[in-house]
Amino acid sequence: MFKFAVFGNPIHHSKSPIIHHKFFRQTGIKHNYGRVCPPIDGFSEAISKFFSKGGIGANITLPFKKQAYQFADELSERAYLAGAVNTLKKQNNKIFGDNTDGIGLLSDLQRLKMISKENKVLIIGAGGAARGIIAPLLILGSMVTITNRTKNHALELANNFKQNGIIDVCNIEDLENKKFNLIINATSSSSKGQIPQIPSSLINNNLCCYDLFYQKTLTPFLYWCKQQGCNCLSDGLGMLIYQAAYSFKLWHGILPKTKYIIANMR
Ligand SMILES: NC(=O)c1ccc[n+]([C@@H]2O[C@H](COP(=O)([O-])OP(=O)(O)OC[C@H]3O[C@@H](n4cnc5c(N)ncnc54)[C@H](OP(=O)(O)O)[C@@H]3O)[C@@H](O)[C@H]2O)c1
Repeated sequence: MFKFAVFGNPIHHSKSPIIHHKFFRQTGIKHNYGRVCPPIDGFSEAISKFFSKGGIGANITLPFKKQAYQFADELSERAYLAGAVNTLKKQNNKIFGDNTDGIGLLSDLQRLKMISKENKVLIIGAGGAARGIIAPLLILGSMVTITNRTKNHALELANNFKQNGIIDVCNIEDLENKKFNLIINATSSSSKGQIPQIPSSLINNNLCCYDLFYQKTLTPFLYWCKQQGCNCLSDGLGMLIYQAAYSFKLWHGILPKTKYIIANMR
């Protein structure tokens, strides 16, 4: 039985076991880490069984982050704010839930020098990943605009976070000629080979574009941004590695070094 594992459905593609193995080798901490793919309606049963059989820590990915939030007995402030959990830890016979997606993204944006205080940031998408990244951006001092295919989902998110900073919602069709410093694609469109239908007038070489999705070559969104003249581009591989590092820190108290892993992972 694994002591640590990533739970998701599907999960075969997950790089988390490879990343955690690298952390294990770097820090010398014993850390057997596997993949678990519960049925879509079987998360609660699978995660209960994992912890009752000696599991210590779990990463949670699509589509179970909201269920993990419900499952946790106690929450970190950032998990509470996000309304979603990507890291669980058993401590003192209780299950503690955290969300390291936001700090993972922020760390990567800072590594890439793509963000500074008072940036105007457009987030496209209003799903689980968007939920995890909004609070850290607002707390840094960014002004955040959310746009989404289904406007109600964006309105709900903006309402959730309005006490944390300056946040508004814009219809996709009203984005024409608006100016941002950073555009973050937090939709799952790239995973389907699609791009969100934002106006091309938004993109130029004076801003940066970040896709939370990652793949070996440029994602469809980043490819399209490059075609529109933007050269400051990154996918979410760095975010993935940083969020894993902060999960590792929650479990073991040590933040592993990440930069060389990001450089060698592709
Ligand atoms: N790098 C990392 O560490 C990391 C971490 C977390 C997530 N991610 C990535 O982030 C992405 C989003 O994940 P999630 O958990 O937020 O997914 P999710 O909860 O399913 O949300 C999906 C979002 O994408 C929108 N969407 C889906 N297909 C679209 C399309 N063809 N055109 C425009 N919008 C579309 C949805 O709009 P509606 O509201 O209209 O349905 C929704 O806002 C995924 O690609 C995931 O792999 C990366």
